Amino acid sequence: MTDALEIEGWLTEAQAERLRACAARVRPEGAVVEIGSFRGRSTVVLASAAGAVIAIDPHAGSDRGPQEIEAEASRGDADHAAFLANLTAAGVADRVVHVRKFSSDALGDVSGSVSLLYVDGAHRFDPARADLVDWGRRVVPGGTMLVHDAFSSIGVTLALLFVCAGSRSWRYVGRTGSLAEYEKRVAGDGRARDLLRHLAELPWFARNVAIKALVLAGRRRWAERIGLDPAAPWPY
Ligand SMILES: C[S@@+](CC[C@H](N)C(=O)[O-])C[C@H]1O[C@@H](n2cnc3c(N)ncnc32)[C@H](O)[C@@H]1O
Repeated sequence: MTDALEIEGWLTEAQAERLRACAARVRPEGAVVEIGSFRGRSTVVLASAAGAVIAIDPHAGSDRGPQEIEAEASRGDADHAAFLANLTAAGVADRVVHVRKFSSDALGDVSGSVSLLYVDGAHRFDPARADLVDWGRRVVPGGTMLVHDAFSSIGVTLALLFVCAGSRSWRYVGRTGSLAEYEKRVAGDGRARDLLRHLAELPWFARNVAIKALVLAGRRRWAERIGLDPAAPWPY
């Protein structure tokens, strides 16, 4: 049976463990929803731990990974075929409902509330913000939201600062690399401390942006000197 980490993707082993732990623990009533499945690495982690997942990904070949923003149908179709094959190989195909749509078009495809939301779809500011607002609203009090590329991607980070930093709705729990975990607040206390915790992540964010700029400029050795893992293509 295929292990999730054998599937192409960007989730690190430590991040997969955090995702697994969040999905396996006792949660309030509600669905487990993933935005951005790619070839199924995180989907397999969630399905194995939670038992059932609604996976939303248009597989349009757009907003697919670093520098892959424009849609390209053949790329998306290849992802879709790999996704289905990987779910079958991992033995979780019957635990996943795939909604092949953009997240903004899929709100009506999930009925009821959400207990765990994993956000790893389009990383540009507008769609990332829309995911946090429109899908985040569906998460029940005490529920969990996990966001990949937090304090790493510029669009995702700005969206988190706008929507989550010091908000009434979200308590920042912490992060594993760029995987940030939030809890939907039951009470509104601790917001100032929460804002400060977001601001405290900004030096790490600046480091990640600098690493990306150096990698894109062909200066990988310099990027490694300021913290890029030599075995990783990009800071995750
Ligand atoms: C970074 S990859 C996801 C990686 C995946 N979570 C994993 O563990 O390998 C981003 C995915 O988001 C999808 N995507 C892009 N825009 C989207 C949107 N508006 N709604 C949902 N998914 C989207 C892309 O098709 C792509 O497969």
